Amino acid sequence: MQFTLQVLKLTRNYGEKVAVDNISFDVEKGKMFGLLGPNGAGKSTTIKMLTTLLPVTSGTAKVLDFDLIKQPGEVRKIIGYVPQLLSADGELSGYENLQLSAKLYGLCAPKRERRISEVLEFMGLSDVASQLVNQYSGGMIRRLEIAQALVHEPQVLFLDEPTVGLDPAARKTLWKHIQEWRKQFDTTILMTTHDMDEADSFCDTVAFMHKGHIVAMDSPHNLKASLGPKATLDDVFILHTGSSIKETAEFGNVKQVRNTISHL
Ligand SMILES: Nc1ncnc2c1ncn2[C@@H]1O[C@H](COP(=O)(O)OP(=O)(O)OP(=O)(O)O)[C@@H](O)[C@H]1O
Ligand SMILES: [Mg+2]
Repeated sequence: MQFTLQVLKLTRNYGEKVAVDNISFDVEKGKMFGLLGPNGAGKSTTIKMLTTLLPVTSGTAKVLDFDLIKQPGEVRKIIGYVPQLLSADGELSGYENLQLSAKLYGLCAPKRERRISEVLEFMGLSDVASQLVNQYSGGMIRRLEIAQALVHEPQVLFLDEPTVGLDPAARKTLWKHIQEWRKQFDTTILMTTHDMDEADSFCDTVAFMHKGHIVAMDSPHNLKASLGPKATLDDVFILHTGSSIKETAEFGNVKQVRNTISHL
């Protein structure tokens, strides 16, 4: 089996606080892996370590053949990253934002132009490439940021809550473009989301994080099946993290969920 990403006992402390506690998992080439869990579970901290942006406290990871700690420069060349908070420059056009990323990734001029038009096309942004980003909709900005992260054809793409704040139509469009890209390039993706339907539809494997630990990990299908024939990934979330995705969820605690699920 070919693993693109192997995470080995990764840990990160912020002072006394252990934000990510000794987590390990593997992601096969071309698969989509979802890190799920409540606010503060440690998802973004994990991604920031894996993208070399945050020093690890202990443990390591392998991205293809490169060691995260010993070869961070090599790792950076083969990954793309879309952060949780919007990062595109609103004062520049979509094209100019892409030029910046392409230069940062060290693409030479002819390759740069070719790659920029390719990712613009893939993300459905060719027609608006010369417009300033502050005139874009939220969905277009997110697609541009993904285009920026893909301009150097990375082997692994990290998406931290790519659809947060987007309306259902914009989400659908964004996923359509990501799926098209995956089909063509077989890129391995690690993503986070609070939308369990999204994780259920697109992830091959999901890991639920809670207080820095991975508390459950499997395919969405197996995780749901372990609870009952009508269980949803929302139910799995509540069971393993003891918290509700929606403030107004009907389920108050794990015991209630267990009771509910046993009646499914
Ligand atoms: N720079 C920091 N300094 C101190 N503590 C931090 C820092 N960044 C994150 N933390 C803490 O580490 C824990 C994990 O945070 P992280 O941002 O990784 O969570 P998350 O799972 O991405 O949450 P969310 O779903 O809200 O994005 C939280 O308790 C958070 O308060
Ligand atoms: Mg986060």
